[in-house]
Formats: sequence, structure tokens, C-alpha cells
Amino acid sequence: MRHQNFARLACFRRGMKSRLAAFAGLLAMAVLTISAAAVAESLATLRGNAIKQEASAPMMGKQVNTDLRPVRNYPEQPPTIPHKTRGYAINLQANKCLSCHSRRGVGRSQAPMVSVTHFMDRDGQILSAVTPRRYFCNQCHVPQLDARTMVDNDFIDAEALPKAKGK
Ligand code: HEC
Ligand code: HEC
Repeated sequence: MRHQNFARLACFRRGMKSRLAAFAGLLAMAVLTISAAAVAESLATLRGNAIKQEASAPMMGKQVNTDLRPVRNYPEQPPTIPHKTRGYAINLQANKCLSCHSRRGVGRSQAPMVSVTHFMDRDGQILSAVTPRRYFCNQCHVPQLDARTMVDNDFIDAEALPKAKGK
């Protein structure tokens, strides 16, 4: 009986030792994790709060709706859209954009017609209707937001290039 107790005590001591070691290990891991989390948190600038917290949605940007056709940065640029496009469906049944911009639609809408490239199939053959390759307008044309840019843009217009040569 006594002997047994003694054995138990030894066992307990050994257990204590390994538990202490485990505790120290855990502590080290926790410190590492916390510092890693601090680094990760400072990098996650766009989220700005803990990963388990749901942030309130940012305000929706104001869509540019000037109706002024924008200058293109180079001739083959798809022009950006100078009007709102909210609720303009483009799917199998309907294409709201084409109701104004198609060859026949412009009579009523006075919108600029899609250019001839929009009628060309991949062999350069001009079809009578917009080619499926150009059916999903917002693949290339996008509305603009009146928003602060997140990254500076140092794009130089081709015409300004000779002047900017020293740059
Ligand atoms: C109700 C008619 C109407 C609808 C629908 C419409 N647009 Fe327009 N769009 C216009 C008019 C009119 C203009 C000329 C500028 C202005 O008045 O906003 C224009 C201008 C544009 C321009 C600029 C053209 C240029 O040469 O600079 C693009 C690109 C454009 N629209 C794309 C689209 C796309 C893509 C959709 C569908 C998501 C669409 N539009 C739906 C009427 C319309
Ligand atoms: C694959 C890309 C692409 C898709 C899809 C596309 N476009 Fe374009 N669009 C362009 C490019 C590039 C230009 C400018 C060069 C040109 O005319 O081809 C342009 C020009 C235009 C213009 C100006 C035309 C002019 O003569 O000034 C209008 C309006 C336009 N697109 C409307 C539309 C509409 C509406 C749709 C959907 C039915 C559409 N586009 C789909 C690339 C695209």
C-alpha cells in the first residue's frame, strides 16, 4: 500500500515535469502566434478588424453619371461608361445595353452605336448583329466611381510622351 503510494508520487512528479515542459512549449507557441498575428494584422489593412468580426460594409461609391463621353487613353481602349448601369441586365434573354446601343436602338436612344468591331466574328466577317464575342458588354466597358484612387497612377498619354521623355 505504502509502496504503491510512493510509486504514484514518483509518477506524479514525472508527470509534473512533462506538464511543465509542455506548458513552456505552449507558452512559447502562444507568444509566437501572437506576434505573427500582430504582423498579419498590420498587413491586413483593407480588413481593419479581427478575422472573426464582420465589418460593416463600406459606403457604396458614387457612380459617375455625367453623360459626357470620356477621352480614351489610346485609340483601341474600350470607352468607360459615362452613365449609371444599375439594373441593366445582360443575360440569355435580354441585353439592356443593346436596347440603346445596337444598330437599330440608336434611332430611339440617340446613344452612340457600338462600333463595327462589335459585329465581327473571329474571322473578321461582319455580321448583321453584335457578335457573341462582344455580347457581354461589361467584360470590357466599365462604369467609373467618383472615388479616391488607392494607388497613384502614373500613366502618360501617348501625346504627352515626347514632353515626358526626361522622366
Ligand atoms: C437608356 C439608353 C442606354 C442604355 C440602356 C445604356 N446606354 Fe450606354 N450610353 C447611352 C447614351 C445616350 C450615351 C452617350 C453619353 C450619355 O448620354 O451618357 C452612352 C454612352 C455609353 C458609352 C460611352 C461611349 C463613348 O464613345 O464614349 C459606353 C461605353 C456605354 N454607353 C456602354 C453601355 C453599356 C455597357 C450599357 C449596359 C450596361 C449601356 N451603355 C446601357 C445610352 C444608354
Ligand atoms: C471584348 C471587349 C468588348 C466587348 C465585350 C464590348 N466592347 Fe464595346 N468597345 C470595345 C473596344 C475595344 C472599343 C473601342 C474600339 C472599337 O471601337 O473597337 C469599343 C467601343 C464601343 C463603343 C464606342 C463606339 C464608337 O464608335 O465610338 C460603344 C458605344 C460600345 N463599345 C458599346 C458596347 C456595348 C453596348 C457592348 C455590349 C453589347 C460592348 N461594347 C461590348 C470593346 C468591347
